[in-house]
Amino acid sequence: MCGITGYAGGGNAAEQVFEGLKRLEYRGYDSAGMAIIKPSGEVSVVKKQGKVDVLKPYVADMRGAIGMGHTRWATHGKPSDINAHPHFAGGIYVVHNGIIENYAELRQQLQSAGETFISETDSEVIAHLIKLNYGGNLLVALRTTVKMLKGSYALMVIREGEPQIAVAKRRSSLILGYGDGENFCASDRPALAGKCKRVSILEDGDFALITAQKIEIFDENLNPVNRPKIENTLTSEKLDLHGCPHYMLKELREVPQTVKNTYSSFAGIGEKLKEVFKGTKRVIFLGCGTAYHAGLIGKKYFEAFARVPAEAENAGEFRYKNPVITKGTVVFAVTQSGETADTIEAVILAKSLGAKVIAVTNVIHSAISRHADIVVPVSAGAEICVAATKSYAGQIAALYLCALTFAGKDASSKEYKQLDALCPVLENTLKEINVYTLAHMCACSNGVYFLGRGFDYAVALEGSLKLKEVSYIAGEGYPAGELKHGTLALIDGNTVSVVLITDEELASKSVSAVEQVLSRGGKVAVITCLPAVAKALKNKAEVISLPGCNKFLSPLVTAIAVQELAYRTAVILGRDPDKPRNLAKSVTVE
Ligand code: G6P
Repeated sequence: MCGITGYAGGGNAAEQVFEGLKRLEYRGYDSAGMAIIKPSGEVSVVKKQGKVDVLKPYVADMRGAIGMGHTRWATHGKPSDINAHPHFAGGIYVVHNGIIENYAELRQQLQSAGETFISETDSEVIAHLIKLNYGGNLLVALRTTVKMLKGSYALMVIREGEPQIAVAKRRSSLILGYGDGENFCASDRPALAGKCKRVSILEDGDFALITAQKIEIFDENLNPVNRPKIENTLTSEKLDLHGCPHYMLKELREVPQTVKNTYSSFAGIGEKLKEVFKGTKRVIFLGCGTAYHAGLIGKKYFEAFARVPAEAENAGEFRYKNPVITKGTVVFAVTQSGETADTIEAVILAKSLGAKVIAVTNVIHSAISRHADIVVPVSAGAEICVAATKSYAGQIAALYLCALTFAGKDASSKEYKQLDALCPVLENTLKEINVYTLAHMCACSNGVYFLGRGFDYAVALEGSLKLKEVSYIAGEGYPAGELKHGTLALIDGNTVSVVLITDEELASKSVSAVEQVLSRGGKVAVITCLPAVAKALKNKAEVISLPGCNKFLSPLVTAIAVQELAYRTAVILGRDPDKPRNLAKSVTVE
């Protein structure tokens, strides 16, 4: 949610900042801007509505060795040139990721003091405050300013005539990169991929000063402080599209490798996980969006393998319901980015009420990890497409292994081995799946409904979310049994119902749902790994046949089908599946 990046060094800062912003575009893409300190000490600024490429024509003319930039996902003030960052006042330039909750009162005070505002954003107050608080030391002015702010921020600040970037962080992520004669800062690692060998992750309350020669980190009282320098393993090669037209397709193809890597990385944490599980009487899964949908599957694994009470809840809802946390409650925080504000706040609350916390995340050193008793890695690698694909598979695999561990099963168990053996099945599914006809049906429809029972229902929810996200076709996912209790009223010849059927025991019930839709004139597609179902329905519905697998692992196979369907439909409709309108990948505001 908003990406910021800064550069200080011998190279061309504008080129570096532009490249960094392109790599952070998944965090927001409604407007973008850069500020570069010219050799004379003056600052040149460009800010425009649109995706990062709108800055391209200006890069060559923006000469300077130090600079910073911002790619925006609007929270306060519509996307526009004026509302784009950097914001500035009196020679101070600011880029900000986060939300300033008390901006309205600060703005009023500043206006009373004679400051003039030009944008509608919350962030502009920061530039004015630093301007007024400046007494000869930028870092001190920044500290005085952030003490006046309520909310979240990752901030970068430059001042005319000063060859440095000052940064501050609270509840929005910020990392620093140590290069050779050049240094970097950014919201997230992709901006630094291949640029530097080591990175440090700032903690809440930290400040830093970045020049070409050095990075100095300070605590909240401006005392120098050390933060661990960790290896920067992300290379620019890992961010390549490798011939794929979109990241969504590339990342979908990386599902089998993700499952394999998640399986391997789990080996290192099994014992510690058992310790955390001791005394557990109840398990709650928290997450947002796709991560919440993975939690729904985690809940089913814990209930089935360990017969322990389990719940899954949307993190944003959990936080405000005065939750009941009883002794022996373990909370799973499922989050690809580890940055989602709703999930982090829900976890902080659960922890304060006595729950143990297990973070299941794709970013090991992310904000969520600091609140967790243990981190279970999802080894998906960088996921650039806003719509989650491979990380969902990694989350499901990680939760499957957690549930088996809780149930006392280890790597020698048949259930473990079944996951390991699934990777070739996933490879084949990707190779052979053909959803083109169904994608055309969806692209021409007025609404697409995803139905299923048990695990199929959980995947139906994700299939519906994915299709909405990337194709903008309305619809919903719901339990096949609920069809007759209301949603059937929406069915007509312009709707498509996608019915997932993978569980032999429930198949006949789901087939009834298919018949109910057909008899109301609705179009039906069936995604199944049961040959008998495929045979019975092949003349009545569009049938997508998948390889057989046990019902516990079926979500990994059916997820590929619904994700592929969403991707193909988006492409048919000419949408950009990697950057759907109005969305951002990391939602760091509540
Ligand atoms: C955003 C993204 C979704 C993602 C959700 C949770 O809404 O667009 O794709 O599922 O955030 O993100 P997380 O990083 O916590 O998994």
